[in-house]
Order: sequence, then structure tokens, then C-alpha cells
Amino acid sequence: MSGNKVTALVTGASSGLGAEFCRQLAARCDVIIAVARREERLLALAAELAGNAEVQCLVADLESIEGVARTLEAIRQRGPVNYLVNNAGFGALGRFDALPIDCQRSMVSLHIDATITLCRAAIPFMREQGGGTIINVSSLGAFVSGENMAVYGASKAFLNYYSQSLQAELADSGIEVQALCPGFTHTEFHDSMSGEKRFDRSRIPDHMWLTSEAVVAASLDALGAGRVLVVPGDSNRSIARSGLQGQLDSL
Ligand SMILES: NC(=O)c1ccc[n+]([C@@H]2O[C@H](COP(=O)([O-])OP(=O)(O)OC[C@H]3O[C@@H](n4cnc5c(N)ncnc54)[C@H](OP(=O)(O)O)[C@@H]3O)[C@@H](O)[C@H]2O)c1
Repeated sequence: MSGNKVTALVTGASSGLGAEFCRQLAARCDVIIAVARREERLLALAAELAGNAEVQCLVADLESIEGVARTLEAIRQRGPVNYLVNNAGFGALGRFDALPIDCQRSMVSLHIDATITLCRAAIPFMREQGGGTIINVSSLGAFVSGENMAVYGASKAFLNYYSQSLQAELADSGIEVQALCPGFTHTEFHDSMSGEKRFDRSRIPDHMWLTSEAVVAASLDALGAGRVLVVPGDSNRSIARSGLQGQLDSL
């Protein structure tokens, strides 16, 4: 059990938004359990944050039942996790019927199965200690349906609806749930996208890109404000609103 140590568990901590969550949460936490597949990246992060927070590296593939089980065990061993950040994710670009089904099922396993399983394990401990924070990293893509990212966008839309329902259920528990919906953010995400098409960064205007520092700061700044859906960036919020309006207009 973690005693009085403030603890975070961050998935996908080896790069991008997950690594940045660890950096910014180091100011609020004593212990950070950093989960990802690339051990050398996690060890480098632990060395970087030494002196700020104790980073415990947990090498696990969260697309696999075994990897999720080991992460669950870490939650059970520690007891209360104050912050649970379900961030691990990847995208695949291409038509649904052109992408391999294994890749699409992996996305569902990682974005949905791993997230709900870790939430299910963490919430009873959070209830017991009278509070906690869950951040599920969704996407602006959850608001805008379109070609070439059908399963990705749908898996993130799941996270939005799931997070909103969870927050309603947890209203009196002291537990806060956020679905963070970033737009284009400078990380390794677009380089590691699988699929039949390559992502062309040059098609996206410079002003549309945010840094991972700004996105994570927007997420943490929004805690306590009573908002489940957090969309960093004015232009991204406009895109999200028109995506929702388009759905309403089509009814
Ligand atoms: N960057 C964007 O523009 C953007 C926009 C909207 C939403 N997002 C979301 O933000 C989240 C973080 O992505 P990012 O932008 O920071 O991209 P990133 O730099 O590629 O980071 C992805 C992280 O997920 C981990 N991961 C991937 N598959 C995993 C698996 N099977 N098991 C465990 N960990 C796994 C990776 O670690 P290992 O490879 O070491 O396992 C890595 O740490 C994702 O959920 C993504 O959908 C990103």
C-alpha cells in the first residue's frame, strides 16, 4: 500500500503526452508508475525526474490481457492511486476495409478494454480514500467523423461518452473524471501511425499544432472546474463544436 504518498499511474509514459503528464504530475505526486513497452524510454524518464518524484517503470503491452493484468496488479499492490491517466494509444490511417482487422482490434483493446479495466480496478480504492482523478486521453477526432480513421475516432468517442457517464455515477465520490481531447499535437503519434496511408504533416497549418506541454497543462488546469470534456485550443474547440452541431443538424 502507498501510505500517504500521492501516486499517479500513467500509461503510454514513454513518449509524447504520457511522458509530459509524468513531468507535470511530478510537481503533485511522490510516486509515478510509468507504463509502456519501451523500457529504455521509461528508465530515461525516471532518471530525468529523479529528485522530483520516484518513477517506477512498468513495462507492459496494454494491448495484451497479460500486460493489463500486470498493470492491474500494480494498482492492487499500491492501493490508492490518486491520478490514473489512461493515455496509451496509437492511430491507423486508411479505409476501414483496407486496414488489417488485427490492427483495428488492437486499437479497441488499447483505447477501450485497457482503459475500462484500469478504471474498474482503481475506482474502489479511490472511493475508499474519498477521491481521485481519472484522465482518459481521447481526441478531437471523437467529435468529427470522417474518412480513414473510423475505428480510431469511434474508440475515442467511446471514451468521451464513457467518461461523462462515469462522472455522473461518481458525482458524490470525490472522484473527478476527465476526457482530454487533444487536436494535432507535436509527439511521435503521427510518425508511428500504421495503415495504408502516410500522415502528411504539411497539410496541417502551423497554427493548428499544439505542444504536449500546452495540452497537458490545459488538462491539469481544468481539474476542479467541473468539466468532463476538455479540448485544448480555441480553434480545436470550434472544430469540436461544429462536429457536434453537424450531428445535431443531421437528426
Ligand atoms: N499527438 C496527437 O496529435 C494526438 C491527438 C489526439 C489524441 N492523441 C492521443 O494522445 C495519446 C498519446 O499519444 P501521443 O500523441 O503522446 O503519441 P506517442 O508519442 O506516439 O505516444 C504514445 C504512447 O502510447 C504508448 N503505447 C502505444 N501502444 C502501447 C501498448 N500496446 N501498450 C502500452 N503502451 C503503448 C507508447 O509507448 P510504447 O511504444 O513504448 O509502448 C507511447 O508512450 C494517444 O491516446 C493518442 O490517441 C494524440
